[in-house]
Amino acid sequence: MTTILKLGGSVITDKETPETVDDDALGRAVDAVAESDVSGLVLVHGAGSFGHHYADKHGVTPSNGSRDAAGIWAIHDSMRRLNDEVVRRLQEADVPALPVHPLSVGARDADSTLSLAADSTATMLAEGFVPVLHGDVIAQIDAGATIISGDELVAHLAREVDADRVGLCSTVPGVYDESGAVVPRITDLDDVADALGGAETTDVTGGMAAKVRALLELGAPASIFGPDVLDGFLAGHSVGTVVDG
Ligand code: IPE
Repeated sequence: MTTILKLGGSVITDKETPETVDDDALGRAVDAVAESDVSGLVLVHGAGSFGHHYADKHGVTPSNGSRDAAGIWAIHDSMRRLNDEVVRRLQEADVPALPVHPLSVGARDADSTLSLAADSTATMLAEGFVPVLHGDVIAQIDAGATIISGDELVAHLAREVDADRVGLCSTVPGVYDESGAVVPRITDLDDVADALGGAETTDVTGGMAAKVRALLELGAPASIFGPDVLDGFLAGHSVGTVVDG
């Protein structure tokens, strides 16, 4: 049984203060992982108040690359420091966590298709470790380096390690319907097209619709949920919104 869990950057960092870990929130997430008896866990975390600032500063996005090595390293270095903290806290709680830095084990080809040396993650898993990946910069043919998001890593890894379950823990409790209630299950984008199209913030709307579309294609059930039910997800319960295409 293999589970992939993404901890959204806004769950584990203080979004208001640059480069600040939300100690309590990260502690709760680490405790939930340490107290669960889930075996075969891959963790991925986002950027929150790390990473994004440097990505903006240096004009690097998932589709807009850069050849400025110092800028690329500044983005990576910020994410690596957050990753260090996540791995350190997990190890302190006796979780056998080890870092996997996408910049060092992956690349994109010219049409943006990602390849990751997934034998690194897969071998760690097979040996009983908990690989911890993170949103990062990654070299891309003919583009220098571009941003790779945690969500993209999750989608890629789900296939590579043949995940049985995927969880996206963010600050929202799931996908909302038009009346603001969390939709328990989505098997088709049409189920929620009206709700996703009708939300107020275009950015969030695009984000959630794109997220649901990608999750429907995973080949494994994926749950979108908030931090308070992380322990329930790790215990195997249905929490938040389950997206299962
Ligand atoms: C962004 O990762 C990575 C960088 C900006 C380097 P994510 O897009 O997964 O981060 P969050 O979870 O939204 O903060």
